[in-house]
Amino acid sequence: MYEIVRQLEEKRAAARAGGGPKRVEAQHGKGKLTARERIEVLLDEGTFEEWDMFMEHRCSDFGMSDQRIPGDGVVTGHGSINGRTVFVFSQDFTVFGGSLSEAHAEKICKVMDKAIQVGVPVIGLNDSGGARIQEGVASLAGYAEVFQRNVMASGVIPQISLIMGPCAGGAVYSPAMTDYIFMVKDSSYMFVTGPDVVKTVTHESVTHEELGGAVTHTTKSGVADLAFENDVEALLEARRFVDFLPSSNRTPAPVRESNDPIEREEMSLDTLVPADPAMPYDMKELIEKVVDEGEFFEVQPAYAGNIITGYGRMGGHTVGFVANQPMVLAGCLDIASSIKAARFVRFCDCFNIPIVTFVDVPGFLPGTAQEYGGIIKHGAKLLFAYAEATVPKVTVIIRKAYGGAYDVMSSKHIRGDVNYAWPTAEIAVMGPKGAVEIIFREDIGDAAKIEARTEEYRKTFANPFIAASRGYIDDVIRPHGTRWRICHSLRMLRDKKLENPWKKHDNLPL
Ligand code: HXC
Repeated sequence: MYEIVRQLEEKRAAARAGGGPKRVEAQHGKGKLTARERIEVLLDEGTFEEWDMFMEHRCSDFGMSDQRIPGDGVVTGHGSINGRTVFVFSQDFTVFGGSLSEAHAEKICKVMDKAIQVGVPVIGLNDSGGARIQEGVASLAGYAEVFQRNVMASGVIPQISLIMGPCAGGAVYSPAMTDYIFMVKDSSYMFVTGPDVVKTVTHESVTHEELGGAVTHTTKSGVADLAFENDVEALLEARRFVDFLPSSNRTPAPVRESNDPIEREEMSLDTLVPADPAMPYDMKELIEKVVDEGEFFEVQPAYAGNIITGYGRMGGHTVGFVANQPMVLAGCLDIASSIKAARFVRFCDCFNIPIVTFVDVPGFLPGTAQEYGGIIKHGAKLLFAYAEATVPKVTVIIRKAYGGAYDVMSSKHIRGDVNYAWPTAEIAVMGPKGAVEIIFREDIGDAAKIEARTEEYRKTFANPFIAASRGYIDDVIRPHGTRWRICHSLRMLRDKKLENPWKKHDNLPL
């Protein structure tokens, strides 16, 4: 028996050694952790149970029969994060560059299948040279098997991708179909075709980092949600992030009681909105002042800054926040912000996370770039997402709520459950100046008359009371009481039941 156990330990040690000390050293030399070290940081200590440690590839071409490394370039299994189970796969770049073989794909598929069955998240740590070149179409088939599971898992369990090395070619489409993508600066990249192909085809000279690095994807393309300085930061933030999410669409998000009283009033909010309606203020300050302990996990902070999206807790329960940011593009909705917020709202709805929306929106951003870029369809995504969402929706209009954007931003008319306004709210078809210039066009040459008309319009419409008189606003609330009003509404809505008509699936304007 002792001998058998010793042999087992030897086999385990061989698998744990991955591609050997030289390659591990090279991995560390690039500032990257190994696949196993990453899992150790990600999961609660001692909770990782590895599967398929002894699985090997089945390829015999190109001398591959002599090169078999147990585990075949991906470490898979399950463990816990703050006591809740997650499945993990972590590609091992030290073994065939983390490239995906048929066996490697089977390992990933196995944990995905089980995660869907038991209803827990899958976290993928990606660090791979792509399809295992020696395996040809078997590798492509493996990718497709993973893709299919990404789609089946979508909306059932949270899927989170951490890109911690190369991720190129068709391989990008697995992370792309997951819910969240975190990247590490300077050591990870994602692109469909690399710098060399780009140079040949379009004659553009671009580095890996410029083309598909963490900064590019979190600021320019919006493909990734967050960029981190190094592996450890990315993994620890992934732990913090997972804690906000439910394990599946069948279970509620974990409740994390805090010492922050629900009834806390925040007097400074009474002076948050400047007297001059053209002056911006920081909407993030409002979120941080109402959320439990000021803890707000923002997603996509560096992309489409005119809308803020992220998670926090109210009375211990997870909430998704969407808020116009007057400090960027005056808080206008444009293509990027509509897509960003629509995807966020849909994620919340999939996983039964209530949505709190803070509104200060002067309208949709004008211009040919927006129209030619399809703002009509993209803006419709956000409208669609809010309108189809059946989760509790609490909306607070802080200042401007103009035109179509008023309707879009979780208004009463698209099933907002509780719609509040601050006394500073201005709810109208458009801003006073634009409105007067249209309805009193004949007075345009007369500055005094226009001024008087504008003032009259402002007095009539630039307030929340007309909307409130029609029941479109449930109450006009004092800013300092915003936290407890939202908390009470969310508590009232906790057992809300609302179902959309049966359909195979909807036809979101893509
Ligand atoms: C097999 C691979 C590999 C691959 C890397 N390796 N990529 N083995 N298949 N795809 C091996 C290398 O041979 C090397 O083995 C080890 O991994 C480390 O690679 P290096 O090149 O030494 O590392 P580095 O200099 O850091 O460069 C990393 C890299 C480069 C940029 C990823 O390896 C590379 O360009 N690889 C090929 C990428 C590629 O074209 N993949 C196919 C893309 S198409 P040794 O034994 O020397 O350590 C694709 C389609 C997916 O993925 C389709 C899905 C639908």
